[in-house]
Amino acid sequence: MEVKRISIREAKKRIKSDPELSKMLVRSGWKEIALDLDGDGMADVSFSAEKPGRKIDTMAVDLSGNGEYNLYLHDLDGNGIPDLVLLAEDGAEERAVVAFGGEVELGFVNLGVKIANLLVAEDFMNRELGISLADLAAYLKLHAAAMLLELDKRANAQGIDRVYYYLNDAGTYYLATVDGTKPRVRPFGTILIDDGKLYIQTGKSKAVSKQISQNPFVEISASMNNGTWLRVEAKLVEDDSHDVKVKMLEKMPALKAMYSADDDNMQMFYLKDAKATFCSFTAQPEEVTF
Ligand SMILES: Cc1cc2nc3c(=O)[nH]c(=O)nc-3n(C[C@H](O)[C@H](O)[C@H](O)COP(=O)(O)O)c2cc1C
Repeated sequence: MEVKRISIREAKKRIKSDPELSKMLVRSGWKEIALDLDGDGMADVSFSAEKPGRKIDTMAVDLSGNGEYNLYLHDLDGNGIPDLVLLAEDGAEERAVVAFGGEVELGFVNLGVKIANLLVAEDFMNRELGISLADLAAYLKLHAAAMLLELDKRANAQGIDRVYYYLNDAGTYYLATVDGTKPRVRPFGTILIDDGKLYIQTGKSKAVSKQISQNPFVEISASMNNGTWLRVEAKLVEDDSHDVKVKMLEKMPALKAMYSADDDNMQMFYLKDAKATFCSFTAQPEEVTF
C-alpha cells in the first residue's frame, strides 16, 4: 500500500487553511498537534512525531471521551503503515497490544479484517488529513469496539475455539504427515472453524494430500513470539461439502487465485480425535481435546 506521510508542520498548515479544522485545534506544538473533534474543549485525537520535523508516526485517539487517549496507532518502521495498535479499556492500567507485523515482538494478536480496516483508516488519515477527522474518529470508535470484543473472545476462548484462535493468529503453522516411513513437514496457513469443526485446506494435486489419504494421522505445530507454542495431533477427515469450501474461500480470499469450490483440486479436512497441547516456557502445558 502506498502511504504518503506528512510532517507536523505540513499538518498544521493544512489545518490552518481549513476554518473548520482550525476551530478544532487545541494543541499545536513542534512534535504534536491535537484536535477537539466534538467541541467539548478536550483533545480527542493527537498526531505526533518522534522528533520535530519528522513525519507523523503516531496517532492517539480518545475513544471514551474522558480526556485520555486509549487507542494508539504507531508506525515503528517509518513506512507509513501502522505496526502497532495499543488499546486500553477505560481505566485499565495495561494496554492490550496488537501487532500488525510479524516482526513486532510485543504483539500477539492478528485481527485480520479489523486490522485491514484500521490500515485503511490510517491510510485515509495520511492522505486526507483535514478532510474528515470526525469521520475517522467515528470509524475508529466503531472498529476499536470490535477489536475489544475480539480481544475479549480470545482471552476467554476455550477448547477448540482456543486452538482455532491460536492457529489463526499465528498465521503460519507446520503440518507434519507420514510418507511411508519418513516424516514430511511444510508450512500451512489455512484455518477455519465451522459447525464445531476445525478445518484446514489443501490441493489434491499435492504430495501432502496423497500422504494424508494413505495415512490420515498428522501433527500440527505453531508458535508465537511470546514464548508459547502449540502442538495438535489429530486424524484428518475429508469433507467434500461445497458449503465449507465456499466458507474457506470467503475467509481467505487469496485462495481464490488458486482454487474454487467447484474445481477438482480443492480439498478440505477437519481434525478428528484431536489432542492439542498449549505449551510455554513459563507455565505447565495445558491439554485440550476435541
Ligand atoms: C505461509 C505458508 C502457508 C501455506 N499454507 C498452505 C495451506 O494452507 N495449504 C496448502 O495446501 N499449502 C499451503 N502452503 C504451501 C505448502 O507449504 C506447499 O505447497 C508444500 O510444498 C506442500 O507440501 P507437499 O510438497 O509435501 O505437498 C503454504 C505455504 C506457506 C509459505
